[in-house]
Amino acid sequence: MALIRIQGVEVRYNSVKALDDISMDVDEGEIVAVLGPNGSGKTTLLKTIDGILKPVKGSVYIDSKNVLQMGRKEAAKLVSFVPQHINMVQGVKVIDFVVTGRKPHIDFAPTTRDIELVLKYLRYVDAEHLADRDIMELSGGEFQRILIARALVAEPRIILLDEPTANLDIKYQIAILNLIAKLSKEKKLTVVMSLHDLTQAYRYAEKAIFLNNGRVHAMGKIEEVMNEEVIEIVYGVKAKVMPNLRAVIPIT
Ligand SMILES: Nc1ncnc2c1ncn2[C@@H]1O[C@H](COP(=O)(O)OP(=O)(O)O)[C@@H](O)[C@H]1O
Ligand SMILES: [Mg+2]
Repeated sequence: MALIRIQGVEVRYNSVKALDDISMDVDEGEIVAVLGPNGSGKTTLLKTIDGILKPVKGSVYIDSKNVLQMGRKEAAKLVSFVPQHINMVQGVKVIDFVVTGRKPHIDFAPTTRDIELVLKYLRYVDAEHLADRDIMELSGGEFQRILIARALVAEPRIILLDEPTANLDIKYQIAILNLIAKLSKEKKLTVVMSLHDLTQAYRYAEKAIFLNNGRVHAMGKIEEVMNEEVIEIVYGVKAKVMPNLRAVIPIT
């Protein structure tokens, strides 16, 4: 069975139906892009996979177990969510912030091994030199890498990222996406990430799901679903898909 199985999921915020009859399988080690315009349900889908949101219909299974029957700690060992926004307070050092990602494995206080893992993943995201800095005093790209390190210290099998390249300059966008690709390749990490940039999805994802008003409009191998008709219907924008360059250009 697939590592993640989403089956007939409906999610509501009171009267708003944010996801409607979503089904999707994700295999181990796959990189999946969640695409669609603002408000189409991308963040809601990621939070539902993580078990933060409870569907009114349908279920999410991870490694054949229903996430909601797993208990938060067990789920958190399997899945890490990298949110788009985070409430930050001043006076927190990077190292202390990253160690909070280790919480599902910590019984009482962090052990030497927990700290070693924090340093290992800070090194992995090229941020070891930032360990003693205040989290409020980082650039966008540095903070995004810290968020990823915090997600990785739990050593999850699945990482969910909500618009990991938003608000970064192109150099850092590429650095973050290359890091994600490296994680998937070297650690067999399964990645589900929402993206705004279709070219980035085309280049980095193996599979995509296009959401439109909370419903699946298209889903499948990236080469098959990244086409002009799908983009026009889902985003209401004419675009040129260039398979040779693996690029998507909106036509104004
Ligand atoms: N906390 C919330 N309360 C009520 N409605 C919400 C909430 N969060 C999201 N929604 C609504 O659910 C729909 C999907 O939102 P979201 O998953 O955030 O979309 P996306 O991430 O694709 O922009 C939107 O109509 C949005 O307004
Ligand atoms: Mg969102």
